[in-house]
Amino acid sequence: MAINTFEEKFEHALGDMYDAEHRFYDAQQEMSNKTDSAELRTLLEQHNQQTKGHIANLERVFRLLDKEPRRVKCEAAVGLVVEGQRTMQDAGTPEIMNWVIATAQAKIEHYEIASYRGLIIGAEIMKNEEVVVLLQTNLRQEEGTADAVQGEPRELEEEMAEKAAEAEKS
Ligand SMILES: [Fe+2]
Ligand SMILES: [Fe+2]
Repeated sequence: MAINTFEEKFEHALGDMYDAEHRFYDAQQEMSNKTDSAELRTLLEQHNQQTKGHIANLERVFRLLDKEPRRVKCEAAVGLVVEGQRTMQDAGTPEIMNWVIATAQAKIEHYEIASYRGLIIGAEIMKNEEVVVLLQTNLRQEEGTADAVQGEPRELEEEMAEKAAEAEKS
């Protein structure tokens, strides 16, 4: 797809994110099946419910722009998912597995945050308030999940890393 205009760039980024959300949905499902941490599983399952909403919101954005929802292969999402899968295959203990999953989820969320912030910049320049609100809804939930993994108040990744360190001592 040629990207020569503002509109084409925006639509490309939208299709890219629409593809990424589908890939992350599957990856979060897989990670939730592989963790033995109830906390991590709850976070992944709750976020997968939100992710379904993200996909629906992106479909609304396409329609508001008079476009059919279309996935554009997101190479970054492919890479993040493959890296997570390979590292999970190599994880030798449940504690390491949980830490690997927390790390992978944190990276996914930060990629999504950067992507939604970029889309919002475009939507604001287009002065499309409905689109801005839909994208901000998704962004807030990605930020909330990123904070649960690496920031305040829960810091799940830190907890998983500490448990992996403790397991080695015992
Ligand atoms: Fe998302
Ligand atoms: Fe997310």
